Amino acid sequence: MSEDRVSITPLVDGPLEVSGAVRVNASDGAEIRSADKVYLCRCGASEKKPFCDGSHKKIGFVSDVEA
Ligand code: FES
Repeated sequence: MSEDRVSITPLVDGPLEVSGAVRVNASDGAEIRSADKVYLCRCGASEKKPFCDGSHKKIGFVSDVEA
């Protein structure tokens, strides 16, 4: 497996953990974050979308698919 490969892991009852050389862009293509690991909201409650801000815990988010 290449170390350049990006890995996406759904955390149980939490965000998507994206590991690798990650660049997150806005809808206009502008870079908003570049990092080796980011956590993307999948509960819809984050006030810092597309990133997780921990709100999934407050709303009791339960993921449909086990990680
Ligand atoms: S998954 Fe964490 S705030 Fe949505």
